[in-house]
Amino acid sequence: MSIPPDRVDLTADLAGLPLVTPVVLASGTAMYGREISAFLDLAGVGAIATKSVLARPWQGLPPARGATTPSGMLNSIGLQGEGIDTLLEEHLPWLHKQGATVIASVAGLSVTEYVRCAERIAGHDQPVDTLEINISCPNVQDQDRVFARRPDTAAAVVAAVRAVLPHVRISAKLSPDVADIVEIARACVDAGADALSCINTLTGAAIHPRTLRPVLSNVFGGLSGPAVKPVAVRCIWQIHQALPQVPILGGGGVRSGQDALDLTVAGASAVAIGTVNFEEPDAAVRIASELRTLLAGHGIGRYRDAVGIAHHPLEPS
Ligand SMILES: Cc1cc2nc3c(=O)[nH]c(=O)nc-3n(C[C@H](O)[C@H](O)[C@H](O)COP(=O)(O)O)c2cc1C
Repeated sequence: MSIPPDRVDLTADLAGLPLVTPVVLASGTAMYGREISAFLDLAGVGAIATKSVLARPWQGLPPARGATTPSGMLNSIGLQGEGIDTLLEEHLPWLHKQGATVIASVAGLSVTEYVRCAERIAGHDQPVDTLEINISCPNVQDQDRVFARRPDTAAAVVAAVRAVLPHVRISAKLSPDVADIVEIARACVDAGADALSCINTLTGAAIHPRTLRPVLSNVFGGLSGPAVKPVAVRCIWQIHQALPQVPILGGGGVRSGQDALDLTVAGASAVAIGTVNFEEPDAAVRIASELRTLLAGHGIGRYRDAVGIAHHPLEPS
């Protein structure tokens, strides 16, 4: 039986982090919030996951760094960013002033670099209560540094950061480019992750039709957008089935309330939107509103009650 949409409680909870809506701006697609704040009220979105930063400013990979695909895009930005100090000193204070809920994202080209970021956070008075550890960026030239590809390397990063930041909520961002994502998820949780973010982009490549050479300078880039949604649903499903108590920030190809609901019922406790922000910077508002209407139509009064319900047998009507 359906209920009025205004009766739906859309608040979400990600490992104890309260979100006003489940819709989160995915890391790297809203940078540090300033540009996108011209289009939406940052206090009204679930959270913003900031662009992953390294321990120092980093120029990323050379151009060309982007290509459109029939139902998504490829990027090889390569973790270009301003570094952890600028995040702590400039961007986080500004975001907090806007009333935004922030998930700070860090990356590293070595375990030591992740630790350096964690030490900066530990030694700074700017509060960081939720940290997303990006161990899955496909755009690093040395693919051995995609720590999320193996359980031991994924766990090493999480354990090292956890040792420096015992009281910060940690979500490990996983790669779909693995044979067994549950094995990696379990390794991260055992190493101290409170939550998991999945999925990051899938590794892809594109050929230029005129030159018959790779479009991207790095040859490989990360595929995102509608094309990857079924992979996201599959990964979320597998992790939730194996580790039902672990909160998941799901993402991958979400561009509508129905997409967000699909990831939720597969097991996501909140939903990150990425590529859609580039074409529609206030998509988070529309998607949250569509989600509310859909939940109402299904007679679900609380978003939280929808998490993982696709795993339960359908009750006879
Ligand atoms: C241009 C671009 C930059 C990205 N940068 C980051 C990043 O810095 N850190 C990260 O964890 N993910 C990054 N991502 C991945 C997104 O956060 C997201 O996981 C992925 O794009 C899948 O979601 P989508 O299909 O909704 O875009 C980036 C994605 C894009 C398209």
